[in-house]
Amino acid sequence: MVHTKFCAEFGIEHPIVQGGMQWVGRAELVSAVANAGALGFITALTQPTPEDLAKEIARCRDMTDKPFGVNLTILPSINPPPYAEYRDAIIDSGVKIVETAGFNPAEHLPAFRAAGVRVLHKCTSVRHAVKAQELGVDGISIDGFECAGHPGEDDIPGLVLIPAAAEKITIPMIASGGFADARGLVAALALGADGINMGTRFVATQEAQVHDNVKQRMVEATERDTDLIFRPLRNTARVARNAISRQVVQILEEGGQFEDVRDLVAGNRGRIEVLENGDIDGGIWSAGLVQGLIHDIPTVAELVERIIAEAEELIKGRLAGTVGA
Ligand SMILES: Cc1cc2nc3c(=O)[nH]c(=O)nc-3n(C[C@H](O)[C@H](O)[C@H](O)COP(=O)(O)O)c2cc1C
Repeated sequence: MVHTKFCAEFGIEHPIVQGGMQWVGRAELVSAVANAGALGFITALTQPTPEDLAKEIARCRDMTDKPFGVNLTILPSINPPPYAEYRDAIIDSGVKIVETAGFNPAEHLPAFRAAGVRVLHKCTSVRHAVKAQELGVDGISIDGFECAGHPGEDDIPGLVLIPAAAEKITIPMIASGGFADARGLVAALALGADGINMGTRFVATQEAQVHDNVKQRMVEATERDTDLIFRPLRNTARVARNAISRQVVQILEEGGQFEDVRDLVAGNRGRIEVLENGDIDGGIWSAGLVQGLIHDIPTVAELVERIIAEAEELIKGRLAGTVGA
């Protein structure tokens, strides 16, 4: 048993979180995470409409009676999704935990607070974490440069970002980006966090609804097999390195604009060609450096149990053994 104030605040058994993942954060995975005693998040925008989100929440509830949450990723865009309607679908469905990410969650906090929803805000810098704490969120997920998806533009890896955030954050805080196993969990606790958030590691589990080729690729890949795309546009995303990611990096480095890569990076292309059809060079898909630490495709329960059991061994054994005479 590894118990922290994050577990107490969010009402879960283990201090392990499965963060929102576009096209991956569906009921099968999230309910498996909940049943394993960890905290999973359905990804709101994976569902085409707020009504579909309500159905996905109901489907998840059919598969678990443990707590789970919903991720609301707020990305400024020309034609934004109806965020307020997605938010209201979450509240009306009775979900009590939300992961916000991508942007300042201020606009949505009064509604969440009025409904008794706890908000875990994920961000990639100490200043944004401090701001969210001031706004009154209930927890922080601090996401280092190692992470899959959007690491921000500061490029601060977890080894510095996590303790730097811990110096300023007094509410429960979990560490994100680059975590896959017990060593990471114990390190995160030592650095001042109250648990870990994982994305990439949970994609390579039995319950993730993605093609087996993607999971196998994660097992084969090393820590060197990611690319940072959109760097020149200052909207960096860490993705699995493949034929398309190489092309996108090259076009943008040579002065190309978003229009020049729009078709290559289309979300639906990644979803259909890669995640559904299993063509790992068919489009863009998110993955983190931590691919280099993934060597198998366990069930979610096996993964969570293994991390907790090995973390206990590590703390009571190797670490305890280094102290004293
Ligand atoms: C396939 C995939 C899709 C993701 N999509 C989202 C998303 O829609 N919203 C979000 O907040 N984070 C998203 N993330 C980031 C994760 O929630 C998490 O912060 C990140 O994966 C942590 O780093 P790690 O992959 O090293 O564990 C995604 C990650 C992956 C692997």
